[in-house]
Amino acid sequence: DKAGHKHFMSKEISEQPMVISNALNFYLNKEGTDIVLPGKGLDFSKIDRMVMVACGTASYACLTAKYWFEQIANLPVEVDVASEFRYREPPIEPGTAALFVSQSGETADTLAALRYCEGKADKIVSVVNVDESSISRESDLALPIHAGTEIGVASTKAFTCQLTVLLLLALKAARARGAISAEDFADKLSSLRALPGIFNHAFENNADFKKSARRLAEAESVLFLGRGLMYPLALEGALKLKEISYIHAEAYASGELKHGPIALIDKKMPVVVMAPRDGLFDKTVSNMQEVMARGGKVMLITDTAGAEEAGDGVWQSLILPQVDPILTPILYALPAQLLAYHTAIAKGTDVDQPRNLAKSVTVE
Ligand code: F6R
Repeated sequence: DKAGHKHFMSKEISEQPMVISNALNFYLNKEGTDIVLPGKGLDFSKIDRMVMVACGTASYACLTAKYWFEQIANLPVEVDVASEFRYREPPIEPGTAALFVSQSGETADTLAALRYCEGKADKIVSVVNVDESSISRESDLALPIHAGTEIGVASTKAFTCQLTVLLLLALKAARARGAISAEDFADKLSSLRALPGIFNHAFENNADFKKSARRLAEAESVLFLGRGLMYPLALEGALKLKEISYIHAEAYASGELKHGPIALIDKKMPVVVMAPRDGLFDKTVSNMQEVMARGGKVMLITDTAGAEEAGDGVWQSLILPQVDPILTPILYALPAQLLAYHTAIAKGTDVDQPRNLAKSVTVE
């Protein structure tokens, strides 16, 4: 049932404020002041490092979480795609927690990577949407994301719910490891509780996303740039776009631009820059100006403050509400999804069932 939507993808995109809220309700105590993990939980004070493994969109959730765990909880994290991890057979030292992220819980490479870690990692944790799945069953600690059934092949609400749960986990780790004060912890939880409402506001600009997407649909190739927490989001934006609109898209960390991809810049290739007005904003803007100086067309995704400061001369700017910088990956997933969705509509592709793709990849 598409609940009045033309596609499951748009229904699932629109459900995000609700399902993020469901995920928060599941993990927060009644007062909303603490994070409670199911079962025996995980004592992060006994963990020295973490490896996070997944495929596709779920691997970008892991990459985002690496920034959170390292910056908020002071916990070193390695991230890898499952197909590389499993055959590289990396050493797993004592004190390692291995964490697997999967919407379906059945992805063959991710499951094989989990089995490789059995008996080696101190704890096997999974962040899964389908509770009764192989990955869930074979974990010491299975953390549900409460996104509800996801039918559209391109993952949307599962991604933002994965991020929500991973951020809660990073905050939990930070508290256990003494890396965050009680005051900052309370502050972050209150920002998180406000997120579904803010996410709702972001939909008010849907018409702008649609208009911009129509212009993206004319491109042969699109470049996505982001720095820090926006780098994994740039990767996700490029993946979403190529999956459903079949437009070639690539993502780079903004700072990598001058190490090669800047050679691609011309009038024809739109460059999507994801840059909330955070501590790295000026750095990203200077990369953006390098693109513009070479005649590149920039689509800047930012907040009001960012647009005021750096919106001059850009091809298009898309505005999102201001949020606590820690939450930007969850909010900025929305433009990544909507741009891909509306571009695909403009191109007339099969949004829910893109060619050559399967919802669950159970063979390697
Ligand atoms: C992208 C997408 C895929 C999946 C990947 C992992 O939109 O859906 O990249 O994220 O195949 O699938 P799960 O999360 O089921 O392990």
